Order: sequence, then structure tokens, then C-alpha cells
Amino acid sequence: MVKLGVNVDHVATLRQARRTIEPDPVFAASMCELAGADSIVCHLREDRRHINERDLRLLKETVQTRLNLEMSISKEIVRIAQDIKPDQATLVPEKRQEITTEGGLNVSGKLSLIKKAVRSLKEKDITVSLFIDPVRAQIKAAKQSGAEFIELHTGEYANSKTERQAQGHIEKLIQATEYAASLGLRVNAGHGLTYNNTRPIALIPRIEELNIGHSIISRAVLVGLETAVRQMKELLS
Ligand code: PXP
Repeated sequence: MVKLGVNVDHVATLRQARRTIEPDPVFAASMCELAGADSIVCHLREDRRHINERDLRLLKETVQTRLNLEMSISKEIVRIAQDIKPDQATLVPEKRQEITTEGGLNVSGKLSLIKKAVRSLKEKDITVSLFIDPVRAQIKAAKQSGAEFIELHTGEYANSKTERQAQGHIEKLIQATEYAASLGLRVNAGHGLTYNNTRPIALIPRIEELNIGHSIISRAVLVGLETAVRQMKELLS
């Protein structure tokens, strides 16, 4: 069965909306693990818009499955990762203005910089994954970088407007997975996956883990709302 990595960034997004102490992504991560998550994912962005160093430090101490840190290849962030030593680092492109990670990493265009970041992380026994589009040139470059994993970007698939488009993207993801496996790379996938569109991706052979954030946290808000209102009413009575 494909594994599930739960991204807790958006628990921190809600906290940061008020710059307060709740909800705590560290507490949320433990709850995800209790519910069966196979790993916990977070992204320490350069602008610290959601997860911060305190979260990362505590997640490293408390996560009992695997901690997968999404990160850019900026010197500052690589230094923090070397210091905290998450189990895994997933290198992603990062632009300050974007709402979320928009495309895959341009590994073929930045091979020497990425190789250097991969080497620095591997020196600290951190498993490295590269978040890339399902494109042969990027997969080939990922292999050359020394990374062990790739994470295929499912954003375009998730944005499909028709069944036909979706099918085309699934085909691309299948081909990309096969090609990566033939080179000896291990394959994860993620981005934009929801309760409605995840099943076909979960069925692709050789994809080991799906990393899902926004849709799970969104559902948690709604499925938890009734209990939360009841608890406040009880407190008032
Ligand atoms: N994988 C990577 C590399 C990401 O950058 C993100 C978004 O932080 C995800 C998976 C999860 O995407 P989503 O929040 O759309 O499920």
C-alpha cells in the first residue's frame, strides 16, 4: 500500500493568521501519527510564513515516524537542515510571491547547485528527494544529482479540467515513475491531491508515498467544527 505523508504547514498557517500559539503544528503532527500517518512533512520557507524554527526543532524531537523537511537550496536553509537533521529533505523551488510551490525544481538547469546541496545534506545522513515535474530530462538530472528519491509534482494533474486531461497527466506520471525506477530512483508524489483525485495516483505501481497537506487540513477544520462548537456551548452552560 502506498504510504501517506501528512504536511502540517497549514496548521501553522492558521496559527500565524493571529500570531498566537494555537493551533500547534507539533501537536497536530502527533495526532496525524496516532491516526496512521507514515511521515510528517513541513516546509520551512525562507519567509517563515507558516512553519518556523521552533516548530522544526520540536518536530525533530517528537516525530516518531519520519520527518520530511521541504526546503529550498538557499545557504541559510541548508545550514538549518544540517543542524536539525530531519530524516529526509525534499528540495523544492521557492519564490517569495507564490501562494504555494508552483512548479518542480529545475534540476537540469541548476545541476551543480543542486548537487552541492544534495552532498551537504547526505553528509549529515539526511535522505534527499527532489520535487520535480514528470519530465525525462529532470528525472535524468535528478539521478545525476545523487538524490535517492524524486517526488513527482501532481499539481498539473490536480488542475485537470476534464477526465481526458486527467488521464493524460496520469499517463505522464506512470511513464515518469517507470523511467525513474529504471534509473534506480525511488519515487514519491504530491501536491494538490484531494479526497476526490488521489485514488488514481495511489494506484500507480512503484510510487512509494503520497504527500498531502491542504486537503487533509481543510477537511479537519470541517469535520472537527461540530465538536468544537458543542464544546464551547458546554462551557457556556
Ligand atoms: N509535496 C510538496 C513538495 C509540496 O511542496 C507540497 C506543498 O507544500 C505538498 C507535497 C503538499 O501539497 P498540498 O498541500 O497541495 O497537498
